[in-house]
Amino acid sequence: MAEFSNEITALPSDSIIGDPTSLSASVPLFKVAMSESAPEAAAEVLRSGYIGQGPKVEEFEARLATVLGNSSIATVNSATSGLHLALHLMRGLTAGDGKPAIQDGDEILATPLTCTATNWPILANRLRLKWVDVDTNTCNLDLDDLEAKITPTTRGIMVVHWGGYPVDLTRLAAILDRAEEKYGFRPFVVEDCAHAWGSTYKGERLGNHGNIAVYSFQAIKHLTCGDGGLMVLPDSELKRRAKLQRWYGIDREGERADFRCEADIPEYGFKFHMNDISASIGISNLATIDTVIERHKGNAAFYDKELANVSGLRTMERADDRESSFWIYTTAVERRDDFMRMMSENGVATSRVHERNDQHSCVSEFGIEMPNLISLVGEMVCIPCGWWVTDEDRERITDLIKAGW
Ligand SMILES: Cc1ncc(COP(=O)(O)O)c(C=O)c1O
Repeated sequence: MAEFSNEITALPSDSIIGDPTSLSASVPLFKVAMSESAPEAAAEVLRSGYIGQGPKVEEFEARLATVLGNSSIATVNSATSGLHLALHLMRGLTAGDGKPAIQDGDEILATPLTCTATNWPILANRLRLKWVDVDTNTCNLDLDDLEAKITPTTRGIMVVHWGGYPVDLTRLAAILDRAEEKYGFRPFVVEDCAHAWGSTYKGERLGNHGNIAVYSFQAIKHLTCGDGGLMVLPDSELKRRAKLQRWYGIDREGERADFRCEADIPEYGFKFHMNDISASIGISNLATIDTVIERHKGNAAFYDKELANVSGLRTMERADDRESSFWIYTTAVERRDDFMRMMSENGVATSRVHERNDQHSCVSEFGIEMPNLISLVGEMVCIPCGWWVTDEDRERITDLIKAGW
């Protein structure tokens, strides 16, 4: 099997299917970024007689490794699977206090402001949730509240880079240093990078900061495979186990007399692997992804400038040491529901994108007070900023907002 290589060929130039939105049409909040070459690439795999995990997955992984500057990766069939597997992998580790890194009933700190895909894997791994309040300037978890909530029973932390805006990973590491000093072990961190393909922290792509990181290649993410995900693992042993456990625990790379009759499986696994159809779509979309992200960032920079002094509207934090790839552009507005109605009447889609997870009855036992969350969900709203938003669209959107609502 091919390992990480710098020798993969350049992708051919390509463009994205579909025109950007025209001025007269409504402006959606999401649009699939599919390259022109993807249908033929997928068709080639369909005709090839081999559609499972094979050479296209290997090629996609080699290309992703080059882009990330990190060969310690494993593709999966969704970020949800990757997040589930990330927690499951911790069962094989021992923490600094000599105890298993996690066991049934252990506590994981997590943000309620995210897709349920971040938090339901905590439940599915038979762990307990402890909510951390959010930072109203970033929509990420509040690091002060996180530090206050770490106790000797905190074994892990799930962070989400909301909309692609990176969590302050240096501050997070310092919090963990202090926890380790106090309690004799370091809680592990899983970074949910589902919104963040193309985001950087201190000049490095997310996934390169010592934690398990999981990207999503779902239909409406920046980089799509139809469905898919990517795990970035902090060391080669976790990578080895992730690659085994994404497919039942069976070594696909080893020598076997009969593919169907595997030898011993020391650690059971799942059916979480990517297939060649998805990988071929991902490879094609990699050729256009930089253009896609530049446009998201350009639109966001325009909004930051134009909306900076609009009364009744608050833009989010932008720190110098990190760059968001702006999967979504989030802002906070007074009379938010009126704002959304006004935008809708003018053909501009808006949404809060994710409902607070702590409100669902399946997690009612973990309910706590989160004052920042209450105030943020009352004012936050996302406006279209993706590659399909033209210069005319974004001017119309800012004119609408400046005119008041
Ligand atoms: C924050 C977050 N995490 C995880 C996921 C799950 O991604 P996937 O659909 O690839 O499982 C999503 C999907 O929207 C998401 O927004």
